[in-house]
Amino acid sequence: MAEQTLKITGGQPLHGEVCVQGAKNSALPMMAAAMLCKDACVLHNVPQLTDVWAASRILNSLGCSCVLRDGQAEIRTDGIHSFEIPDEDMRRMRSSIMFLGPILGRMGACTLTMPGGCELGPRPIDLHLDAMRKMGVHISEQGSRILCRAEGLHGARITLPFPSVGVSENVMMAAVLAKGETVLTNAAREPEIVDIANFLNQCGAQIHGAGESTICIQGVKGLHGTSYTVMADRIAAITWMCAAAATGGRITVSGVNPADLEAALAAMESAGCQLGISGNRIYLDAGRPLRAVRYLRTMPHPGFPTDGQAIMMAVLACAEGTSVIEETIFESRFMHVGELLRMGARIRISGHTAVVHGVSHLHGAELSAMDLRGGAALAVAAVGAQGETLLHGLHHIDRGYENFAETFNSLGGKVQRILF
Ligand code: UD1
Repeated sequence: MAEQTLKITGGQPLHGEVCVQGAKNSALPMMAAAMLCKDACVLHNVPQLTDVWAASRILNSLGCSCVLRDGQAEIRTDGIHSFEIPDEDMRRMRSSIMFLGPILGRMGACTLTMPGGCELGPRPIDLHLDAMRKMGVHISEQGSRILCRAEGLHGARITLPFPSVGVSENVMMAAVLAKGETVLTNAAREPEIVDIANFLNQCGAQIHGAGESTICIQGVKGLHGTSYTVMADRIAAITWMCAAAATGGRITVSGVNPADLEAALAAMESAGCQLGISGNRIYLDAGRPLRAVRYLRTMPHPGFPTDGQAIMMAVLACAEGTSVIEETIFESRFMHVGELLRMGARIRISGHTAVVHGVSHLHGAELSAMDLRGGAALAVAAVGAQGETLLHGLHHIDRGYENFAETFNSLGGKVQRILF
């Protein structure tokens, strides 16, 4: 069967402005959270992504109605009749686990299967289930199905062993309609959590402390509908800045909150890029030459985001000197390295650490995207490389980027989507 492939002709410095898309990692849980509202919700700035379509399909399969149009999602929940997430959707999209908290909150029960694949190494859901148990959910297994049942959710004191983004969001979403107060400690502090809390509070929820390590949620009787604009995608912003940096170009990314990007901006600066910030715009002028970053470690927010690791590595592959990158969040997040090596990069992996010896340039090659951000990283490497690259596995990239090829081209890149 023909496969969607990108044909990328490298070597053109990228120049221009990108208005950053809405955040995938905010839009997906927010679509799930809308289930908790009795009235309709309209979400704006929802990116057009295959993962968003998958979330919409889940809502529809539960009996809700989700209509996606012109960057909006209109979600109505009055027809909700099911609490089972279809296995096909669980396999297709790992973030379908984000429906667990909202379905439990709304229906008092949820049936699901394990999220599929092992794109970034094992991605267990034990922390999600443990947190739900503390809120009064009884969990049993029936073949491959996981049955979660609650005789009325109640508030709880929950301390996470690791500040998991998804678990923090699921607890918040389950707790807003639970009886009593939930106190979540060692919560993740990602900006998307704040965005979801703001959305829920606008619907009448009582969530305090989102964005800090302790979040308190006072259960309320019901939520009303609202209209809400999803925040900008931090990782897309990093991607476009890195693409400009890899080509020796200049870019302005707009619509973002620079405070959400501090660690990434610090890394770009230490790589020799010049930055200017004005309101919700960031201007980046690539370092010429780029410099190695001595040590970059992925960490929960406000540290350097794991989702930006591969993309930054693509930039550092051509920086002067040796960069050391440690991945601390996911087990197998170096799958892009083998592909970068085919382009002439010099990278050595030892456990969770990649040692990147900068080379003068990369060359085009035939490559495969193995995961979303790794795929984006290969495209970034390819626009900066000499010659032509064929990048297969575009379906991974379409999960998270809206108009991927078009955005490169609007900046002067030569990127073509072909059937291969
Ligand atoms: C979210 C983001 C993803 C990002 C990640 C870390 C969404 C839709 N996805 O994913 O893009 O890379 O945060 O910033 O927002 N873990 C367990 N057991 C669990 C849950 C998680 O062991 O039950 C582990 C994971 O395997 C991983 C670590 O915790 O090693 C971090 O995962 P988590 O923060 O939960 O990431 P996600 O919410 O899946």
